[in-house]
This record gives sequence, structure tokens and C-alpha cells, in this order.
Amino acid sequence: MAEQFHYKGGLINGKVKVPGDKSISHRAVMLASIADGETVIDRFLHSEDCRRTIEAFKSLGVHISENGEQVKVLGKGVNSLRQPNTTLDMGNSGTTTRLLIGLLSALPFNTHLNGDESLINRPMGRVLNPLTEMGAQFFPMKDENKLPLQVKGGQLQPITYRLPVDSAQVKSSILLAGLLTNGTTTVIENNPTRDHTEKMLSAFGGSVEVDGQHIKVSGKQSLKSTNITVPGDQSSAAFWIAVAVITPGSHLILEEVGVNSTRMGLVNVLKRMGANINVSVERYIGDEPVGTIEVAYSELIPTTITEQEIPSMVDEIPLLALIATQTKGEMKINHIKELRYKETDRIEATVSILQNLGATVFSSEDQIVVKGPTQLKGGSVQSENDHRMAMMAVIASIISDEPVTIDETDCINVSYPTFFEDMRLIMKEIEL
Ligand code: S3P
Repeated sequence: MAEQFHYKGGLINGKVKVPGDKSISHRAVMLASIADGETVIDRFLHSEDCRRTIEAFKSLGVHISENGEQVKVLGKGVNSLRQPNTTLDMGNSGTTTRLLIGLLSALPFNTHLNGDESLINRPMGRVLNPLTEMGAQFFPMKDENKLPLQVKGGQLQPITYRLPVDSAQVKSSILLAGLLTNGTTTVIENNPTRDHTEKMLSAFGGSVEVDGQHIKVSGKQSLKSTNITVPGDQSSAAFWIAVAVITPGSHLILEEVGVNSTRMGLVNVLKRMGANINVSVERYIGDEPVGTIEVAYSELIPTTITEQEIPSMVDEIPLLALIATQTKGEMKINHIKELRYKETDRIEATVSILQNLGATVFSSEDQIVVKGPTQLKGGSVQSENDHRMAMMAVIASIISDEPVTIDETDCINVSYPTFFEDMRLIMKEIEL
């Protein structure tokens, strides 16, 4: 249902503790399910995507209980997983799908996977190809390299594989499959992608060797349960960082947020643009750094972003484009072709939303160019049912003169069910 948002004139000030990290929540349930013993996961992100991972592992026979933000997983080792008696519904979740396909392709049974309208159109060849090289078998029900799909699992061979796309999902899928082989699997990445799988494998007592761009896991390792507190999601914090830097008079403190360097692209780029941001690392949960980010309104100038930086901010590019509408000069955001394969084509969706609000934005195959600064007018936009696009449009409404009408915002539950509650916390002097 279309809804109107109009928040201009509010004061943005205060503290937020964003919910747990989506990528880490998925991985915590996955590794806990194949480890031995009970794992307690605190600050688990109860979003629709992470629900898919819990439901999938329940269907595979794992005992998982939930109490608020705490999830308990009773792992009995990877060999305890059983063929599910129904098709596993992956919903909108690319991470659940791609990581699970890696694991399932190395287990001795068949599984059927399906997903929603967006997910069944996303490319799966990027995981199916290397896993096929390892010996896995896949039977797509409709289109090649897409869901719905049958995974026929079995004993796999280790592989040395250079990632053709910078993708943590692909890397993680191969590493999980590699864990169940009889040798050493090596994934070589061109640019560093989020390393939560590697860090979490160590937390579960696994051994992973990281040597520059080479990530190696040896097979037949057994993992041991552990307790995990999930850090706040940097990609959720990014919405409030964006609001603060573009709204005059703002000052925000984001507490207990994950500050893993493979996720800090937006913050690093904003610093180069002249943003008033301070990051302090306070502690480590396992190998994951957690800290506080303090950010205030800033006058920004454009910067150049390298290809190497893109994976560390891959989910934050639409927000960066919004920020660029408030930056003095022309900002070119290059090397972003991967955005076309997200929940929707995020290059098209970003350009369409920002143009409808009055910004000067255009795109090419792998680039968005924004000319700023522009006072956004407001208008009607489409989220394309993509959680991050919907949230970006809500953020845009905070600096738009007139209301912003968004066709669909329920999709925000995919990654940030408490988005509007957190927004209420930091927006003062305005009725929400
Ligand atoms: C994720 C990796 C990224 C990111 C996604 C979560 C992960 O996808 O966009 O939101 O948890 O591994 P790609 O691997 O496709 O870059």
C-alpha cells in the first residue's frame, strides 16, 4: 500500500543502537547448526531474511528455540542434518540461498529450494558453477541457474577457485562446501569482501587460513558450539549516518555497531568527502570489532571511489547516491555493476527514485553520476519491493520539501523491522 512520508524540519539528534547484523545472524545459525553442542546467539536479527535461515535449518532437523533476541541452536554436527520433507522457502534471502546451496550440495540427500518473485530472478550460476566443478549436481525447475532448484548433494572434491565477481555470498558458499570435502579448498578474491564467515568459523573452533587474497579451509573439520553476541548492523547504521550528514544541525551517536573493516566503505568514503564522523572500536566479539560511531551534519565534496572499495559498501551505494545529491559538485560512483543483481536492479531503482524527487542523476552500465547540491522536491517513488530502496526513499523524505509517496514499505522487514521505531528515537520535535 502506498504511503506518504514527510519529515522535513525535524531535528536529528540522539543515540541509536541498531539491531543485530544480518550477515552475521545468518552465519551464526548456519555454523551453530553444523557444530556440536548448544550455541546461544544474542542480539539475533529477527528479520524476514534471517527467519528464512532459521526455518530452513529447522526443516533440516536442527532444534532451534527463540526467546526475544536470543536464539538457541542445538547442533549435533553436520551429519545430523536430514533431508527436509518440504521445499525450503528462501523468501527474499539471497544470503540464505547461496550459503545453504554450498552446504546442501555436500550432504547426501536432495533438497528443493524456492523463493519469492525477486529471488527467483537472481543469478545462482555464480554458486552453481564452482560447486558443479566440485562435483555437485543441480536440477533447476524452470530457468537455468535460477530458483526453483533441486540440489542433489553428495561427496564433493576440494577446489581452488578465483571469484569472477566480488561476492561474500559466493566465497562463503564455497567455503562451507569445502568444509565437507577431503582436502583443502582455496577461494581467491580480487577485492576484499565481508569476512564474517571466516571470522565466525574461527569462533566455532574451525581453522581458516587467510593469506592476502587467498582464503583456505581444510575439509572434515568439526566445529564446536560457542556463544555469540551479534554486533549492530553497519548497513542499518548507514541509514542514520546518511540522515545525519545531510540534515543541517544533526548529531548522532550509534552504539554497539559492527565496525569490521570489510563493511566500512561508506564511512571511509564519507570521511574523504569531509564528513564529521568519528569511529571508536570498543571491543571485539570473537574476531568482530564493535564500537561507537559519532556523526554530525557536514558540508561534503565529491570523491573518487576505487573498485577495491565497492564490496565494503555494496549495500550502501543507493544511500551514497542520495548523499551525493546534497554534495557540491559532480560525484561519479563507478564499478557498481553488481548492484544490478541485488533484490532489484539498484542502479535503475536509485536513479528512478532520486530523479522523481528532483535530483540530477543518471546512470550507465556500471556507474551512477549525481550532480549536486539539489534541494529535493518530493514526489512519488517505487521501492520495487526492495528493503534498502524503501529505506533510502524514507531517508530522502527527511530532506524533501514536499511529501515522498512510496508504493511499498513492508519490505523493510526483510532487514530492519524496527526501522521506524529507531527513526522515532532520533527525530525530535516532529510528530511521527
Ligand atoms: C552478503 C553479501 C553481499 C551483500 C548482501 C549480504 C552476505 O552480497 O550485498 O546483502 O551476507 O554475504 P554479494 O555476495 O552478492 O555481494
